[in-house]
Amino acid sequence: MTYLTCTSSILLALAIVGAASGGAEKANSGISKKPFGKMPDGRTIDLYTLTNNHGMRVAITNYGGIVVSIVVPDRNGKPGDVVLGFDNLEGYLGKEPYFGALVGRYGNRIGKARFKLDGVEYKLAANNGPNSLHGGVQGFDKRVWTAREVHGEHPALELTYLSKDGEEGYPGNLSVKIVYSLAEDNALRIDYSATTDKDTVLNLTNHSYFNLAGEGNGDILKHEITINADRFTPIDGTLIPTGELRKVAGTPFDFRKPAVIGARIDADDEQITFGKGYDHNFVLNRSGAGLSLAARITDSESGRVLEVLTTQPGLQFYTGNFLDGSIHGKGGKAYGRRSAFCQETQHFPDSPNKPSFPSTELKPGQTYHQSTVFRFSVNK
Ligand code: GLA
Repeated sequence: MTYLTCTSSILLALAIVGAASGGAEKANSGISKKPFGKMPDGRTIDLYTLTNNHGMRVAITNYGGIVVSIVVPDRNGKPGDVVLGFDNLEGYLGKEPYFGALVGRYGNRIGKARFKLDGVEYKLAANNGPNSLHGGVQGFDKRVWTAREVHGEHPALELTYLSKDGEEGYPGNLSVKIVYSLAEDNALRIDYSATTDKDTVLNLTNHSYFNLAGEGNGDILKHEITINADRFTPIDGTLIPTGELRKVAGTPFDFRKPAVIGARIDADDEQITFGKGYDHNFVLNRSGAGLSLAARITDSESGRVLEVLTTQPGLQFYTGNFLDGSIHGKGGKAYGRRSAFCQETQHFPDSPNKPSFPSTELKPGQTYHQSTVFRFSVNK
């Protein structure tokens, strides 16, 4: 046997073994990295792309841990990007409404921008009327995270950040780790963990704006949604929960059976008026710990289906009521009112001031753990 024939037989044998074990298929799955832009101080920011073998691709940047794009096939196998965002870092450095962001230390609002913990009052920046929203002026969405590619069973990206004691007014040095991973069933999983060296409060979430018809492709009013919640937390005129857990039955918030998002979004209802549509926290029906199904959204045109699973007790369903077409995103597309919906899995807004809500406190020695899965499929 010549050297050449010998090498080709080995290669052929390897190819056969690879194909039999699914190895040949694995060729597409993995992580790639490319530059995404530079911070004003010169730091380089990267864009990581996780790819699986079923036509799904998720791009994430270490600036703000932002999910920049999620490409998934429609019912005909045609790929489409289903989240709003920008083509480069510059877009995210301007004023924008948390597209795809990793939100912390506290997702959603803390009333009157203050809370008491262990008898001490902590003052936060009032960046949303009288309230503090999404972690303050420079929340986790505006920080540079340390990224590490993880090549395990599924491609994954680990992001870490040390939020110093007193940052944005919150107590404790908080060490945060987020892992984004992409599975073969077209599920993007987010695992959040954190530890602190002083008692503190914490509520992490992801603020992706979904449009299952594809970003920039009209509004989401015809999408259908099911939310696994018998109750929601009604709000006051500044969007702070009143403390009540109200039954959804008989209200525009009843999504226990699939309903079209647009059907009751402008109903003559005080809660709808306060939210300018849906911008409310739902109290998820849960049985025990672990991931459980929070919501399911379908778009009949593209056939795309999104299922949201989470370990969290709440879900903020926000219908992009504040978008007004003034922001131009990917490819220069204008993002109009209600051109996306958010599924912010979370603890309830203003929990630090609402002793009856599930606690958001984290103490030294404890580890915060939460997980959320965005799983995509198609209806044929
Ligand atoms: C959350 C809030 C909304 C809005 C968006 C960001 O969903 O509940 O009121 O602030 O974030 O624009």
